[in-house]
Amino acid sequence: MISIVETTPYDDQKPGTSGLRKKVPVFRQKNYVENFIQSIFDSVAGFRGETLVIGGDGRYFNREAIQIAMRMAAANGFGRVIVGQGGILSTPAASHLIRKNRAFGGIILSASHNPGGPEGDFGIKYNIGNGGPAPEKLTEAIYARSRVIDRYATVRAVDVDLDTVGQLMLGDMTVEVIDPVADYAELMEALFDFGAIRALFAGGFRMAFDAMHAVTGPYAVEILERRLGAPAGTARNAVPLEDFGGHHPDPNLVHARDLYDLMMSPEAPDFGAASDGDGDRNLIIGRGIFVTPSDSLAMLAANAHLAPGYAQGLKGIARSMPTSGAADRVAQKRGIGLYETPTGWKFFGNLLDAGLATICGEESAGTGSDHVREKDGLWAVLLWLNILAARGASVMEIARRHWAEYGRNYYARHDYEDIDTAAAGELMAALRQKLPSLPGQRFGDLAVEAADDFAYRDPVDGSVSEGQGVRVLFAGGSRIVFRLSGTGTSGATLRVYLECYEPDAARHGRETQEALSGLIAAAERIAEISRRTGRDAPSVVT
Ligand code: G1P
Ligand code: ZN
Repeated sequence: MISIVETTPYDDQKPGTSGLRKKVPVFRQKNYVENFIQSIFDSVAGFRGETLVIGGDGRYFNREAIQIAMRMAAANGFGRVIVGQGGILSTPAASHLIRKNRAFGGIILSASHNPGGPEGDFGIKYNIGNGGPAPEKLTEAIYARSRVIDRYATVRAVDVDLDTVGQLMLGDMTVEVIDPVADYAELMEALFDFGAIRALFAGGFRMAFDAMHAVTGPYAVEILERRLGAPAGTARNAVPLEDFGGHHPDPNLVHARDLYDLMMSPEAPDFGAASDGDGDRNLIIGRGIFVTPSDSLAMLAANAHLAPGYAQGLKGIARSMPTSGAADRVAQKRGIGLYETPTGWKFFGNLLDAGLATICGEESAGTGSDHVREKDGLWAVLLWLNILAARGASVMEIARRHWAEYGRNYYARHDYEDIDTAAAGELMAALRQKLPSLPGQRFGDLAVEAADDFAYRDPVDGSVSEGQGVRVLFAGGSRIVFRLSGTGTSGATLRVYLECYEPDAARHGRETQEALSGLIAAAERIAEISRRTGRDAPSVVT
């Protein structure tokens, strides 16, 4: 039954910030998926008879890739595969299933917020037994293996019926097709005060949740509408589509523009939220107010104790380096640890496992906690709902009071997408060369206090990650960070993160871009963005 197939390696299977992401036609090359999956199996040991969780965000090519992965898991000796019905599992739900079933690991098929379809993006990510993304050491081993791989193992079998919940055999391996929502919904009920949120909706509270035709649709319908009693239609675009209806399933102010416009209009409901392709990101908008993900992290951390799952308080807070320092002020006031990690969720795993942090977040619309080992979009939405119910206040009121207490970190990210890869590399190299000469220089009102290339030493395992982004720190707490994206699939994307701290409550009503204008001008002068990229404006501002 098992066949060993000869293959030749590809040289581009290097996992990025979050797994291997490429265009669908790249994945469709001969043995491309097989090579990568076998490279994963060859880089881990001890899984004979163990469980593997498999699921994806439902995008184009999801089902084919899942069939390949299941056949290879059977041939390589796994004892059981747990797969979501229809091949669907949100990333946080997959993380939970790995943990709950004490699985050896999981394979998540997703390119997150990137567009899908025959010419769109696809991705494969491996998660380890704690439910979190493979750490760098492992992704490097997978890449090294992929460069020399010469055979893979599979079984010859007909496709597994993914649409019927139940149990069947594939070779000697059991396949359990499960309801993708049930376990996750149960976990959410254990963390949050569903009674209080139900009462909120029963009292006329209105919400719009945009699932962006991606994986969270079925989760949102079950949890928000069925279990919490929100009116039918609260979850919009709730049917997952292979091409996300032709949109980018990216919950930001550009791609979730309809939701933003609704929330700023006179008809706005009380609360607006959205999630991305695979359900790990979140967008939070109150009536008349967009909450930046960095602020959302800080506000959730400051109020988390209002939810039963966090009533004991937080052990610590972790944020990625480019995320604003708003959460730092909450940690400081509470006397708990604050951890600053490189971009990417994989760096939070050790901190959560070691009990150093309870809540984590990234400026890129990712927030989560130690309930799983991935960021979790609906979790953030439910924690907000729990806080709104417990405090009986609007998002606007909660934000204003928060800023009055802690000060406000004005924040924006400017992305220059699909720029020339060589030019992007040269821009970063030139910045790195400039680092020693920057301290002491002035750019308008801004005086550079320090500048470095961020390096992180994991406090748990001592591993060091270098070259994680250039930081320019100004007197008074303002900051610019430059880094290149590790998730794009064409050209390079330069990300410029701008942050300005304002302690004075009288100055909290400013428009963000205006509050950041001095920093924007300084970023241009320091990095020569327009000359080097040929762009005079960012493609996306979030
Ligand atoms: C982006 C985000 C990062 C996030 C990752 C995966 O990575 O910036 O915070 O963890 O997507 O969702 P980047 O493209 O910047 O490497
Ligand atoms: Zn995602």
